[in-house]
Amino acid sequence: MIHSRITGTGGCLPGAPVDNNALIAARGLDSSDEWIAERTGIRARHFAPAGTAASDLALVASQRALEAAGCAPNDIDLIVLATSTPDFIFPSTAALLQDKLGITNGAAAFDLQAVCSGFIYALAVADKFIRSGSHTRALVVGAEVFSRILDWRDRGTCVLFGDGAGAIVLEASTTPGIYATALHADGRYRDILAVAGHVCDGQPIGDPFLRMDGQAVFKFAVKVLAEVADEVMRAAGMTADQVDWLVPHQANIRIMQATARKLRLPAEKCIVTVDRHGNTSAASIPLALDEAVRSGKIGAGDTVLLEGVGGGFTWGAALLKF
Ligand code: UT7
Repeated sequence: MIHSRITGTGGCLPGAPVDNNALIAARGLDSSDEWIAERTGIRARHFAPAGTAASDLALVASQRALEAAGCAPNDIDLIVLATSTPDFIFPSTAALLQDKLGITNGAAAFDLQAVCSGFIYALAVADKFIRSGSHTRALVVGAEVFSRILDWRDRGTCVLFGDGAGAIVLEASTTPGIYATALHADGRYRDILAVAGHVCDGQPIGDPFLRMDGQAVFKFAVKVLAEVADEVMRAAGMTADQVDWLVPHQANIRIMQATARKLRLPAEKCIVTVDRHGNTSAASIPLALDEAVRSGKIGAGDTVLLEGVGGGFTWGAALLKF
């Protein structure tokens, strides 16, 4: 039986961190470091400079993941890239990344849009490709420049997000690997987190900025994250006490703590980067995973639970042996 297994991780955070006070001063916001830190856990985030696109951040994260996996770009036969802030309408950011990496072997490459759940969706898709036998080595990437879709007059959202990219190499293996994945969506909740605009006849139509009903998202997130975590553990025949690390989507420390409590996981088992990265949407989980691996927290043989929730509404989880 074919399984898939993570063999390398990489991350990229552009530029220097921008702390809450620097952001408030730069944008003239009616806010405070205390409010942001207490309500969200966020103390700093990174922003990509003008001219740096999602594919540029994805390139650095992917190069680091490839190096960690000990493989060359042309060993990759599948690229699945999750983003809500692509370089262009088309070609896909995955195709641009393929070119920037110098991959010329015809590897399949496509973008996947599930907002902050994007990396979990991309991982589940790549896992299924590999387990089907059609592909053997995938680059799975989450890359975002959310700073481009923020309304700097909306203090309820603009303090929450940052830019970055995370990547993994996922390879065919005779042993797991990925034990179980679960993906869900409910489009009836599409309005509580959205960028409800598009381009038509050369003009932006609708609202080109991110809008969020924070409290509705908060309640929804806490409920579905606990449910989907249970779902993958049941599917894998495991219980929470067998989980070594929880790597949740990094949106709000209070959501992450509530999820860990519901799963009866000690807070120390929850990987936290939201304080330094903010919410980097599809990049947040692979960035947190990479940081935990490189700092020596997550090591070979550890059982890791990844989970995310985001616009759509979408949510999902993956349970794996690292
Ligand atoms: O990645 C997708 C997932 N996204 C999330 O998980 C986000 C989930 N939601 C949240 O994290 C929280 O709902 C927020 C952090 C967005 C907001 O926290 P909250 O405790 O739900 O605050 P609120 O929206 O109820 O606002 C409370 C007050 C309001 O003032 P009034 O009406 O009580 O006078 C807001 O105007 O806080 C005010 N406020 C702010 N004050 C200072 C909103 N944003 C700010 C701000 N600084 N940046």
